[in-house]
Amino acid sequence: MGRIIALANQKGGVGKTTSCANVGGALAERGYDVLLMDMDARGDLTSYFGINTETLEATVYEGLFGESGGLSDVVIAVEQTNRRRKKGRLELAPADIDLAGAALLLANMEFGERQEIVKEALEEVGESYDFVLLDLPPGLEMLSVAVLGAVDEIIVPQQCSFLALHGLRQITDNIERVQEINAGLQICGILLTMHDRRTVHHREVIRMVRQAFGQLVFETVVPQTIRFQDAAIAHQTIMEYDPNSEAAKAYGAVAQEVVERG
Ligand SMILES: Nc1ncnc2c1ncn2[C@@H]1O[C@H](COP(=O)(O)OP(=O)(O)OP(=O)(O)O)[C@@H](O)[C@H]1O
Ligand SMILES: [Mg+2]
Repeated sequence: MGRIIALANQKGGVGKTTSCANVGGALAERGYDVLLMDMDARGDLTSYFGINTETLEATVYEGLFGESGGLSDVVIAVEQTNRRRKKGRLELAPADIDLAGAALLLANMEFGERQEIVKEALEEVGESYDFVLLDLPPGLEMLSVAVLGAVDEIIVPQQCSFLALHGLRQITDNIERVQEINAGLQICGILLTMHDRRTVHHREVIRMVRQAFGQLVFETVVPQTIRFQDAAIAHQTIMEYDPNSEAAKAYGAVAQEVVERG
């Protein structure tokens, strides 16, 4: 059974989707079989890899709530261009606006039932991968809460800004609440992103986050660089787009830490 990890932070624009794509890509580069699940009805992770859901028969919505099949029926392979070394599989369960309908569907269910649907679906696909990474939208929608109730671990991406510190405290409070319903939920780590080394304020935020959260914070901090936007436009992971960059090395190191924290 693979490790099932959600990337979650209620705050928007902190690097959840970028980290999902790139931690996943880096794990696949290390030879692990990885499934990325887009749990955001805006389909940002799906667009990151240049997939047009209009040409697909089914998305994660059908995989979770459809009558037939399951998630394994909606999974597609992510093209990897730079096959530098032997890689594991990198696959995607894509999402589009259909996923917004999940809220209505779930609203008519009991909490335990919602969580059970997601858990069963994840257990089914979890058998076929070493890692399943779920990209959650910002906020705490009903589907996200069900996902947090069903996964084993979460990674909390967080940008290096003072404003973000408040959001971090909120998410750890919420994790404690989710742990009341999913006692096994572990924080794999808090991942600091968008670090600008020239900025004193960023260094101060890193220091404060480490002081507050200690070992929960990944050693590796992801640098701020326009290369991430460029990589997304090229529909590539940063390791493919700019393999020797500091940014690519950072996500490689994060993937290594994720492996070690298992
Ligand atoms: N380390 C980084 N350096 C510079 N830009 C980054 C970095 N990480 C992400 N970005 C950019 O910041 C923007 C937000 O990132 P991303 O979409 O990953 O955040 P998110 O948390 O998934 O957002 P949302 O909450 O809207 O889903 C994107 O344009 C992305 O390319
Ligand atoms: Mg996102």
